[in-house]
Amino acid sequence: MFDYFWLWSEMIVRWVHVIAGVAWIGSSFYFIALDLSLKPGKELPKEANGQAWQVHGGGFYNMVKYLVAPSKMPDELTWFKWEAYSTWISGMALMSLVYYGSTSLYMIDLEVLDITQGQAVLLSLGGILVGWVVYDGLCRSPLGRNDLILALSGLIFLIILSYIYTQIFSHRGAFMQMGISIGTMMVANVAMVIIPGQKKVVKALKAGEEPNPIYGARGKQRSLHNNYLTLPVIFVMLGVHYPIIFATEYSWLILGLILIIGALIRHFFNTKHKGLPAPYWTWLAASFLVVCCISLSYVGGPTNEDYEISNLNISKDEVHNSAVELVIERCSACHAKEPVWDGLAFAPKGVYLETEAQILKMANEIYWQSAASWAMPPGNIIWLDDEERALLSEWHKKLKDN
Ligand code: HEC
Repeated sequence: MFDYFWLWSEMIVRWVHVIAGVAWIGSSFYFIALDLSLKPGKELPKEANGQAWQVHGGGFYNMVKYLVAPSKMPDELTWFKWEAYSTWISGMALMSLVYYGSTSLYMIDLEVLDITQGQAVLLSLGGILVGWVVYDGLCRSPLGRNDLILALSGLIFLIILSYIYTQIFSHRGAFMQMGISIGTMMVANVAMVIIPGQKKVVKALKAGEEPNPIYGARGKQRSLHNNYLTLPVIFVMLGVHYPIIFATEYSWLILGLILIIGALIRHFFNTKHKGLPAPYWTWLAASFLVVCCISLSYVGGPTNEDYEISNLNISKDEVHNSAVELVIERCSACHAKEPVWDGLAFAPKGVYLETEAQILKMANEIYWQSAASWAMPPGNIIWLDDEERALLSEWHKKLKDN
């Protein structure tokens, strides 16, 4: 019964997280596009910066933007912040339920670093905090005065951070850790910079004072960062379900390229929404970088050209029998009707690897998880060396050739 409760909690928190994220990203995309499409109008009050006419859901909307504020503050203001906060809160809850709840399966690789469950959680939380402090420091430093230099320093910092994480956590842990670090930077931008700044502006205006323009400028810079970081964060969240993305040697570098690809795509839409000629070259550049990512995940896998065992003289039957035996030996502690692995009540993801028939049925999945990447066994907790992975690759190839 407790297992049902646990699984349901996980599902419900995930549900909330995705919905909150959709609301946050949706409102963020909407406001960026709105902002870029504003046009001046003669009939507007003099404090107004521009307007847009929109049609949606059977009605017409006339959105007017006041750059500093209208001459009289309205009594009621809608603030956009709970979309961001609830995405982060539900995200941390999900991280705790899944990753912190089973660090040995999701975060730790003893070959990378011999740490305990408590240490893994502390290192993860510490990393998230340090990530924010360094990023915030970069924005406030002299580098922050030039948007392009700041973006480049930020990119380099994020690539270094993701490399450092691979030296602490398992492949999967390191990858997710980057997603949660970047997500935290985005939410902290809202909670620590954008909203407090806006509150100060509103307060000053209500008191009849001139607000300090620094708050507006800072808020705009952080908002721009959030805009460019949105696509990469979603990539990480989905990427942890693709072993050749998170569990190969250059996953940290792939993430760096994804940061650039995400920015290129946002640049395309931002320019287009401004009404300027659309920069189609960004798609070419992004496609080129995607090809680089694909190549990196191919050459960074455990069974690339180095292990050409097909040249060895092993008969097909021998390869098949050895592969099946290997999978039963190394995988069925968890992937069984009654897993003997401590803490597992069910075979994870309903994958059973106890009989030859089950293994044949899962051959493709076994290849992606254990031959093309180091995703399984998790954190290599039940040791599978690269030659054994090569054997699985060879087995898979022979099955395909038939
Ligand atoms: C220590 C326990 C453990 C061992 C040993 C283990 N697995 Fe897994 N396996 C898991 C867990 C946990 C998941 C679920 C991962 C997740 O949440 O995405 C999983 C998921 C999978 C999946 C489904 C992936 C998906 O996203 O649908 C496959 C396929 C798989 N494992 C294959 C293997 C193979 C092949 C081996 C042996 C080489 C193996 N596993 C060994 C724990 C284990």
